[in-house]
Amino acid sequence: MTGNNGAGSPAGTDAMQEMAKRHLMLHFTDMSAFNEYDMTIIERGEGVYVYDRQGNRLIDGLSGLYCTSLGHSYGDEVGEVAHEQLKRLPFSSNWTVAHPPSIELAARIADLAPDGMNRVFFTSGGSESVESAWKMAVQWQQARGEPRRRKVIARKNAYHGVTMGALSFTGIPVCRTPFDPLGIPAVHVSNTGAYRHPEGHDEAAHCAALLAEIEQTIEFEDASTIAMMIAEPVQNAGGCFTPPAGYWQGLREICDRHGILLCSDEVICAYGRIGEWFGGQRFGFVPDLVTFAKGLTAAHFSMGGVLMHDRVAEPFLDGTTDYNNGLTFGGHPVGCAVALKSLEIMERDGVLENVRANEPAVDRALNGLRDIPIVGDVRGMGYFWAIELVRDQQTREPFSGSDAERLMSDVLSTALYERGLICRLDDRADPIVQIAPPLVSEPELFTEIAGILREGFEIAADHVGETITTG
Ligand SMILES: Cc1ncc(COP(=O)(O)O)c(C=O)c1O
Repeated sequence: MTGNNGAGSPAGTDAMQEMAKRHLMLHFTDMSAFNEYDMTIIERGEGVYVYDRQGNRLIDGLSGLYCTSLGHSYGDEVGEVAHEQLKRLPFSSNWTVAHPPSIELAARIADLAPDGMNRVFFTSGGSESVESAWKMAVQWQQARGEPRRRKVIARKNAYHGVTMGALSFTGIPVCRTPFDPLGIPAVHVSNTGAYRHPEGHDEAAHCAALLAEIEQTIEFEDASTIAMMIAEPVQNAGGCFTPPAGYWQGLREICDRHGILLCSDEVICAYGRIGEWFGGQRFGFVPDLVTFAKGLTAAHFSMGGVLMHDRVAEPFLDGTTDYNNGLTFGGHPVGCAVALKSLEIMERDGVLENVRANEPAVDRALNGLRDIPIVGDVRGMGYFWAIELVRDQQTREPFSGSDAERLMSDVLSTALYERGLICRLDDRADPIVQIAPPLVSEPELFTEIAGILREGFEIAADHVGETITTG
């Protein structure tokens, strides 16, 4: 399973439930479960909490989908600017014309970005941003006289979206397989997960092995066919894989040497999730392209974009080529006004400072769970953390397919929800539980989260002892 946990209460007779079950198709969801169980219906939010239809208060422990960075209490303030914008100009596009909110937002983002990244193309979300980055890379390569460069290097288990281009880069078999063959040629190299890598105990050796693998891949594929490499600063899928020291500098050097554009997919990481505006500021690198979405508006509007380095923008500005890409709602004026307001609030209320100040406390609270027998690894940074669950701490033996499914779906999902925590349970690779609450969360919330996780994991560990280890 993947997705946020739910209570799975037995089916009732609520009219809203009936309507949902009759008409709504959920994303990445086993809809047959609702023959037996009710859907979780979230009705409202307040601060870092949301409330379901039964009135249960739940910690928004995954910030919706890593996006409600400001929580749920800024709706009035953000809504006012949306209202003003709707009155003044509800819509104008970014096709051949511009409007003040998109101009001001592009300038604001450039202000916050790593040096030399000064131009923005707006989209409606993450998948569109990723595909737009690839189109830009391909056209950039064509403009340099390298039309064979179309391939992408991506990483195993990474999630880059579901539209056919973005899906080509996504490295999660269950997402890809039904739609094979995919549109864009892509090869997948190891991600930065250290826990299961043979060199993972030695950061320098781990980094060297990862970079050597990329070199070998480029040699095998032929650099003259590769347009772009895409990677997240901290990889979400698989469970918050942080990079070893020197990794991003290594990627930068390899890409430069082989004429490959480096795209940092920051759909989750940008705008404070790891304590900085952009990943490059945390890890000391400047990419060619940054894809972003979710946190830009703190999820008050559906918006994303591609931030590009001046050297990437150049052939599109000097008459060499036109960027052949456009989206009706890319740069929607209401979205741009909302994004400007959200960024203003983040600065005014010291949201990034909050994340940075509390990271050590979060680290302590979650690492404090390591004494529980099924806790294998705890990793992450900022407000972006994962706990990997194992059958055996010593051998790191993972839970296998059906054991993992039972542990996550039958036991943990409900146990955590009943204790008031929404988080992510993901067993598409080795099972992980992910925690990424709103960036305005105080350290006490992490103490509360750790307490709930402890109870849930202990129940799961007992369950493992009773039923699962027989396998
Ligand atoms: C790193 C990354 N890239 C791209 C996407 C796709 O974004 P969207 O769901 O807005 O299309 C996601 C979504 O979670 C993501 O995490």
